Amino acid sequence: LDAALFRRKLTAWYRSHARALPWRGVNDPYRTWVSEVMLQQTRVAAVIEHYERFLQRFPSMLALALAPEQEVLAAWSGLGYYRRARMLHRAAMFVTSELGGVLPNTSAGLRTLPGIGEYTCAAIASIAFGESIAVVDGNVERVLLRLTGRPEENTAAARTFVQAQAAALVPRRRVAEQNNAAGDHNQAMMELGATICLPRAPLCMHCPVYSMCKTRGEHLTPPRAVQRSR
Ligand code: ADE
Repeated sequence: LDAALFRRKLTAWYRSHARALPWRGVNDPYRTWVSEVMLQQTRVAAVIEHYERFLQRFPSMLALALAPEQEVLAAWSGLGYYRRARMLHRAAMFVTSELGGVLPNTSAGLRTLPGIGEYTCAAIASIAFGESIAVVDGNVERVLLRLTGRPEENTAAARTFVQAQAAALVPRRRVAEQNNAAGDHNQAMMELGATICLPRAPLCMHCPVYSMCKTRGEHLTPPRAVQRSR
């Protein structure tokens, strides 16, 4: 797989086709953090409905840290998985009391915060701070397994392979927010999985990396679970 060619095709597509989502083009790590925590287990359409409202209520890390937990949970209603809201609140209190209110600007630093996992660290570090680190979510996993022709399995070996593959593809340059190569690349990978490389019936004919894909056209027809007989 020609990594440079893959990146060029992917980012060109992303620049012209990315959805204009409210958390894109935002230059505030706190907002990136809130959006990525919301997006982990909730559909984009539902996050759009709640993101602005949550940020109006808690416009900054400090505002969130100072709020009573009940109010944070109330503002989270509709998003589900309330544990995420509790952890977000707890981490905001930690950053405010222990780190002078400043979010760490590296994935390693972010990892020290309570309740922030590998995915969220990588997403914030690359999108908000331009760090060259790969973000792997379920969408990215599917894209990379299909691209390389690996079986779509949920095994430790598959995850290890996907992590290595994702790391090999992410742009290495660390750049300023103006032209955030790693952040845009990661968002483009997620966008490809969310809009083109769909779990069932992917839109291969619209895929920017069709020519490089080992399984192009193979998932077009959803498999029929049971053949009907009369
Ligand atoms: N899913 C989670 N985070 C995302 C992002 N930043 N862009 C697209 N899809 C996402």
